[in-house]
Amino acid sequence: MWVPPVPIGNGVVFLGIITAPRGTADILPADARRWHELEEAARAVFDAYGYGEIRTPIFEHTELFQRGIGEATDVVDKEMYTFMDRGDRSLTLRPEGTAGVVRAVLEHNMDKGALPVKLYYMGPMFRYERPQAGRARQFHQVGAECLGTMDPAADAEMIRMPATLLKRVGVTNFEVLINSIGCPRCRPAYVERLRAHLADRREQLCASCRERYDRNPLRLLDCKRESCRRLTEDVPQLVDSLCDGCASHFQQVRAYLDDFGLPYRLAPRLVRGLDYYTKTVFELVSSDLGAQDALGGGGRYDGLVETLGGPPMPGVGFAAGMERILLVMAKYRPAPAPKPVDAMIAHHGAAGRRIAVRLAGEWRDAGLRVEIDYMDRSLRAQMKQADRLGARLVVIIGEDEASRGVVRVRDMATGEEREMRAEEVFQSLMQKGG
Ligand code: HAM
Repeated sequence: MWVPPVPIGNGVVFLGIITAPRGTADILPADARRWHELEEAARAVFDAYGYGEIRTPIFEHTELFQRGIGEATDVVDKEMYTFMDRGDRSLTLRPEGTAGVVRAVLEHNMDKGALPVKLYYMGPMFRYERPQAGRARQFHQVGAECLGTMDPAADAEMIRMPATLLKRVGVTNFEVLINSIGCPRCRPAYVERLRAHLADRREQLCASCRERYDRNPLRLLDCKRESCRRLTEDVPQLVDSLCDGCASHFQQVRAYLDDFGLPYRLAPRLVRGLDYYTKTVFELVSSDLGAQDALGGGGRYDGLVETLGGPPMPGVGFAAGMERILLVMAKYRPAPAPKPVDAMIAHHGAAGRRIAVRLAGEWRDAGLRVEIDYMDRSLRAQMKQADRLGARLVVIIGEDEASRGVVRVRDMATGEEREMRAEEVFQSLMQKGG
């Protein structure tokens, strides 16, 4: 946003503060504590399932997403942050994690090692969408990918993992939606049936859906417009058109979910917004979110590795929106309190300050949480500060204490004060478990 310069006298020009770009957000320390809670819970779940972390670059060659996600998707067609770098290469800020993970798997020959390859990731993704509650231009995903197995148990686990994560962080108000969108053997016939069914209604569809009719008909099922919904109400269902292999796979995925006792709803119109999916697709949605109700989603992508230049290799994965999970978490759980401070070292006078700064450094190295004043506050104000920080102890070093090689210690709970040697205070803090 451009702000006109404002002269404020003496030749100084106030240029205005620069705000964060639309659709991005700062995560401040109080919010960061919630993020840590979610990140730690996610790592624990992935660890239990045997997934290792992968960190891929924030930007990739544009072609990776064009080929991987599909040119006819909204993500690639309308939402990518694409730019030419100074070496004239077209690069794109990653709009999702799966394509980059598959690229890395191939680049590092992980596909030739022990299968399946099980990887998880967390980090920022970028989509040029209209920002609203739960939808940003820079957002974060936590996700996992399992490559090299066709086993329907892997699909079921990929649905169970995010469900477990949500429950761990106190989010229980969500529903699991599942569908199967078939494979290259059975889907083309369905797409033709869908087109034929809608041929005489094509002109009544919205402009986007008319385009979808030509370029990506499955996405017709996904239009949120009431008029399009009505026009497509009676279309044939994907699940009724599956080949035997896809139907049996889907039936087995459902059986595992039943065994897990994980409730789900069949969602025959669920098709997802990325082109790489085959067979199982799913979403976890919550009525605690507004219009953007998907906490996460994913599915099987048995053709993606080959599309990206690798061998034929199946895969299945999910990703969840971290901001969206945090929005719902905030409804049910208070934010974690900051950790209490073990000691505040209050000081007075130059000699007192020198000792305080040295002690604070040494005690922090030993793992204690120590605060110190840098604002030249009075001792009284430093006490108040200690109280605000919830410090258990205040160690006071004035000129007198400094000259006698002692410190005064106040127990903030009892108000009791006594003189000790700094080393003794340190030992007692360490014994209390820091
Ligand atoms: P996706 O459905 O596009 O799937 O995104 C997954 C989740 O990311 C969504 O359910 C939502 O919670 C969150 N999300 C997406 N866009 C935004 C946004 N603009 N602002 C905030 N949150 C957002 C994928 O990205 C696939 N890569 C998932 C996957 C992994 N499939 C197989 N493996």
